[in-house]
Amino acid sequence: MPAQTGPNDVVACAVGDLPPGEVLRLDLDVPVSVFNDEGEFYALDDTCSHAEASLSEGFVEDCAVECPLHASAFDLRTGRPSGPPAVRPVRTHAVSVVDGQVVVHVGTPRA
Ligand code: FES
Repeated sequence: MPAQTGPNDVVACAVGDLPPGEVLRLDLDVPVSVFNDEGEFYALDDTCSHAEASLSEGFVEDCAVECPLHASAFDLRTGRPSGPPAVRPVRTHAVSVVDGQVVVHVGTPRA
């Protein structure tokens, strides 16, 4: 279980533990996945909005993660799907780097 630093902040890991191209699934009440895409951190709800698939197991390309089950691709910046079968976005969560730690502000949408 990740450390909690505030009611809605979760320390996911040290920056060095999530290199570019990697993803980390946080086992929260509602699972969240944290992505490092070319050095930028993004966090999305882990469960696809179409069915029960884990986006942490998806393929990341062009700042989007492709669902491993039916291949809708979710924009890491907005959570919006590229097209069917998923039609609803997944939630985004703001991410900060604080003292070398990746902190996810759970429930605060990415600006
Ligand atoms: S479960 Fe993700 S697109 Fe169907």
